[in-house]
Amino acid sequence: MRVTISEIKAMKQRKEKIPMLTAYDYMTAKIVDEVGVPLILVGDSLGMVMLGYDSTIPVTMDEMIHHTKAVVRGANKALVVGDMPFMTYHINVSDALYNAGRFIQEGGAQAVKLEGGEVVAETVKRLIDCGIPVMGHIGLTPQSVYQLSGYKVQGQTAETAKRLLEDAQILQQAGAFSVVLECVPAALSKLITKKLSIPTIGIGAGPDCDGQVQVINDMLGLYSDFVPKHAKRYVKLADSIKKAVTDYVTEVKTCSFPTMKQSYTMDESILSGMIADTGTTTTVSKVKKPRGK
Ligand code: KIV
Repeated sequence: MRVTISEIKAMKQRKEKIPMLTAYDYMTAKIVDEVGVPLILVGDSLGMVMLGYDSTIPVTMDEMIHHTKAVVRGANKALVVGDMPFMTYHINVSDALYNAGRFIQEGGAQAVKLEGGEVVAETVKRLIDCGIPVMGHIGLTPQSVYQLSGYKVQGQTAETAKRLLEDAQILQQAGAFSVVLECVPAALSKLITKKLSIPTIGIGAGPDCDGQVQVINDMLGLYSDFVPKHAKRYVKLADSIKKAVTDYVTEVKTCSFPTMKQSYTMDESILSGMIADTGTTTTVSKVKKPRGK
């Protein structure tokens, strides 16, 4: 059975922390799902970590749907949230409903996430009225990177801190089932978390949020173009991949890969017939032992 939004909300009531991770492809989603992560976000961060854009701004609906479908094929239990890209929910509520509907109907996601507080409240309410669960996202909202003048911590002044609390409450009021707090001071996140009945999911928002989300490429040490302070590397996969690729290149160049272990055989009599027909003798190369093995 797939995780539902009621279960996510119940986790807050039980004071059970909610781990969430991004995934962008079938294979990663399958691993994350098998471990039992209840929430998978197909983040528009895929623009940066999968597609090499320098921000999330260029990401399109078609790119998001393509990756969401792959993630949904890999995740049988987790609730999959599709991240609505820049300008797909800003122009009018009808556009937003159409695009959110694509995530659910074409992509197979069970919920969508969109950035903003009060400014998107009417849209959030309409999507929910039409049966589409919504996760909010406030604090550092990367789609507004130009307006925010960079990827900066939010809510450090009395005015902006108050604004963030109000936005969180407005999103809850509009019906959001949870809200991401990105790059918000830990003490403010704790206060917002206490004030809300829906779960807060933090990224760079301290330990007191109800849940945490990380970009999987950051936590696996795969993406090094930009590593935010709040990203923890649990493993350095890029180093392991570089070593494996270097070993492979060496073995191909020195004829120590493949060996007969990775090769196929054929019936000797067919081979003899071929040798007789073609007048060409052949013996399979002796494979050199890789150095140091
Ligand atoms: O796109 C994304 O990965 C996100 C998370 C950082 C919350 O929005």
